Amino acid sequence: MKILMVCLGNICRSPLAQGILTEKALKAGLPWIIESAGTEGYHVGEAPHKLSQQVAKENGIDISMQRCRQFSPEDMRFYDKIYAMDQSNYNDIKRLCGKNWQEEKVKLILNELNPGKNEDVPDPWYGGIEGFRDVFELLNKACKKIIEPYQFHTS
Ligand code: 4NP
Repeated sequence: MKILMVCLGNICRSPLAQGILTEKALKAGLPWIIESAGTEGYHVGEAPHKLSQQVAKENGIDISMQRCRQFSPEDMRFYDKIYAMDQSNYNDIKRLCGKNWQEEKVKLILNELNPGKNEDVPDPWYGGIEGFRDVFELLNKACKKIIEPYQFHTS
């Protein structure tokens, strides 16, 4: 399975989503490819935001090696599932893809947690560490739901 996490800057939310789901896939022994991208190119080549790195580290996940890249319409073909962090990311992906758009592959990530509610992962860019911790908790719950059907249960 190939999964792409997408936000605006690929610096705060989607690097956390990538790190959290990668950790869960490794623990579950699933050979998934999980990456992330931003709909804008403001931060291309940069490491994730310091506070995203800090919150990940507090939870035993190292995301410091990730580097920001911009979403490309080619991604629509390559990945099996693309998760948008909010409605504007979803609309931007659709706009950037043009005729390559494949609706069945793209989903708001919080719809995994609360189906049909179309909730956004709040952008923590203008706030402090608490906003990043809230984002981590939401993404952790959503990623649990994503992986649940693929996990091997012994009990
Ligand atoms: P992200 O957050 O989309 O979660 O990475 C943002 C990152 C950068 C900016 C805005 C949001 N910015 O305006 O540069």
